[in-house]
Amino acid sequence: MSSHPAPSHAAAIDANQPTAETTASPEALSGEKKRLFIRTYGCQMNVYDSGRMTDVLAPFGYAPTDQPEGADMVVINTCHIREKASEKVFSELGRLRVLKEERRADGKDMILAVAGCVAQAEGEFILQRAPFVDIVLGPQTYHKLPEMVARAERAAASKTGRKTGVGILDTDFPLEPKFDHLPEPVAHGSAAFLSVQEGCDKFCTFCVVPYTRGAEYSRPVDDVLKEARLLVGQGVRELTLLGQNVNAYHGTSADGRELGLGDLCRELATIDGLERIRYTTSHPRDLDDALISAHAELPQLMPFLHLPVQSGSDRILKAMNRGHTAADYIAKIERLRQANPDLALSSDFIVGFPGETDADFDATMALVQTVGFVQAYSFKYSPRPGTPAATMEQQVPENVKSARLSALQALLSAQQDAFNQSCIGRDLRVLLDRTGRHDGQMVGRSPFMQPVHVTAPAELFGQVVTLRIVGATATSLAGELV
Ligand code: SAH
Ligand code: SF4
Ligand code: F3S
Repeated sequence: MSSHPAPSHAAAIDANQPTAETTASPEALSGEKKRLFIRTYGCQMNVYDSGRMTDVLAPFGYAPTDQPEGADMVVINTCHIREKASEKVFSELGRLRVLKEERRADGKDMILAVAGCVAQAEGEFILQRAPFVDIVLGPQTYHKLPEMVARAERAAASKTGRKTGVGILDTDFPLEPKFDHLPEPVAHGSAAFLSVQEGCDKFCTFCVVPYTRGAEYSRPVDDVLKEARLLVGQGVRELTLLGQNVNAYHGTSADGRELGLGDLCRELATIDGLERIRYTTSHPRDLDDALISAHAELPQLMPFLHLPVQSGSDRILKAMNRGHTAADYIAKIERLRQANPDLALSSDFIVGFPGETDADFDATMALVQTVGFVQAYSFKYSPRPGTPAATMEQQVPENVKSARLSALQALLSAQQDAFNQSCIGRDLRVLLDRTGRHDGQMVGRSPFMQPVHVTAPAELFGQVVTLRIVGATATSLAGELV
């Protein structure tokens, strides 16, 4: 997100912007262009949010830049999911403090904001430990950034030479969803994210998301369709619907019907020019018949599904509070493959959850053998403050976690490699959405999310084209135009 080109339209601010005494007006603040740098950690939802923060600040004169040096404002959009992810925040803040002080020495300022899930979880603590931070805001309050920035700018102007930050903290979960206050989205290419669902009520015992993102919320169907049409109108060909539990989506349509994700996909598939639809992340429990049959019916729905299972041991799945067994998961996959035999699967795994024995781990390996994944993410269990699993007995030693992770990753990489090799000789439809490193080279996405490298004429950029696959590595494909 940090490399966004400047948005082409600095749209008028949403008429719904709150009008408190701290209200910022675009006229008052625009003038000279200011540089905004956003560093994004974590999941696609954070990538989406960073894009929307860019959209929110554009009318106030902030244009994206791709480096923190020289930026008038820096946002770090943080992730709390594992300890390593959270730790990055303070080391990054340490580096930014130096930049901020250098700018102050030059008589300028740099507004420093911490957003995202660490901000939500540790708001006060961030301000204590890093008092030079100006703004701490949670994932549900970034529509209010203009007011916060206006306050920070005023404080900076009135207190030259100050050492501490402004210390604005907003980690509320407002009753009115932020989506009602965001400006129109700006597309930055032919593939875009669209957030349709947020939050989680599942409370897996290892996970912070229900605490950092709040309760499950689905956007109304018409809002989603409107945003989709706007993006497609700007050249978007592929939409990835986002949600922490995207298939728990249950939005209300204008005529009062409750639509699940399958029906939402059916509505989206009627939009002219929208060639591809994806969704992530799904929960096995919420994968209902309407969504499974959408995979049979809709050619736009890509035959690739990220469906995290976490473990193959029923005992561990129960301790994780996942609400399904390994057999339930395998049965759903079988039905999905009946709906679309081409369907390729990806998953998330946690090894070393408290109490996990060798036999439990073997069950995970067996599940991977049974299902066969074309891609996967696997992690060592990381105890997170405030979650039930963090205080469970029988925490697994680090060396055992490492050994299990290596074994699992070796198996998953072998499956990924075998799948990539099996694509050689196939003709795949590829959306060419990035330029490659070499002259004339482009990189696209196959239906199965593999990056595909190809040399192609410039006019094909942003299009879905048929490529013959002529080579494969462990993580990507090489194609030729046919
Ligand atoms: N909503 C999704 C996952 C969101 S978090 C789902 O229900 O599956 C993304 C992934 O991070 C999870 O699937 C899990 O594999 C991993 N993860 C979450 N908490 C973790 C923890 N405490 N330690 C290690 N990995 C974790
Ligand atoms: Fe976390 Fe579980 Fe919710 Fe996924 S379903 S976000 S893993 S609590
Ligand atoms: Fe991380 Fe928050 Fe996403 S904790 S994974 S950024 S929902």
